[in-house]
Amino acid sequence: MNSQESSKYWVIIPAAGDGQRMQADCPKQYLKLNDKTVLEHTLAVFDRPELISAIVVVLADSDPYWPQLQQSLSHFSVPLYTTVGGKERCDSVLNAMQELEQYASAKDWVLVHDAARPCVTWEDITKLVSTLENETVGGLLASPVKDTIKRSDNSGRVSATVERNQLWRALTPQMFRFEILYKALLQALTSKEIAGYITDDASAVEQLGQKPLLVEGSGDNIKITTPEDMLVAEIYLSQKN
Ligand code: CTP
Ligand code: MG
Repeated sequence: MNSQESSKYWVIIPAAGDGQRMQADCPKQYLKLNDKTVLEHTLAVFDRPELISAIVVVLADSDPYWPQLQQSLSHFSVPLYTTVGGKERCDSVLNAMQELEQYASAKDWVLVHDAARPCVTWEDITKLVSTLENETVGGLLASPVKDTIKRSDNSGRVSATVERNQLWRALTPQMFRFEILYKALLQALTSKEIAGYITDDASAVEQLGQKPLLVEGSGDNIKITTPEDMLVAEIYLSQKN
């Protein structure tokens, strides 16, 4: 790629999970928060054509809910593409990377953001983007751990209090150069030993021996996982608007 040419920014929204821990009647990304579904809230944050070239939404095979959002998404300025997800989150992200391969250059940036994190702010996204501007690999939004952390033994007793100073909660977006993330996911998914540890994009990149940069973001950027998270997300979203 011509070094004079500026890198583009592509967004991947994995939304192919079935929300086991939420135990709702539909996948959690389609539950309503105030007036819109979780997924619509999340997508709306990224509708920024001044920065984002396109968004790839990763959906479950024959997802019956997505077609119902078409009218509300028809006013989007950023092109929206879809692809089908896989068994684990990292399989879903890899499918999206394969979809993007026809458009993206090696040094372009890919921002991967969970559909289940509707409270992310554009301020945090632009902080991530500007902090990583001159990085060769990438990084992620993260929030310092506030609680005292205990390690347990096999009988459920405390075996240690873990030093908290260097512990962070990994959030999304996680942003990497296209070629690095692609290579990382391909390698992670072909190595059975490490595939089980790949719960976010950074961990795949770490397996290449790289050190993603931690960029402090708001702790309000929660991942909706269990029913009580819905109420908290509603409060954060009302504050945002
Ligand atoms: N995801 C995905 N493909 C999968 C699994 C998860 O695209 N095979 C997405 C989810 O839709 C979600 C994000 O990855 O937006 C984070 O995953 P998680 O919070 O674990 O969601 P679920 O897997 O749906 O929930 P659970 O683990 O409780 O079943
Ligand atoms: Mg899951």
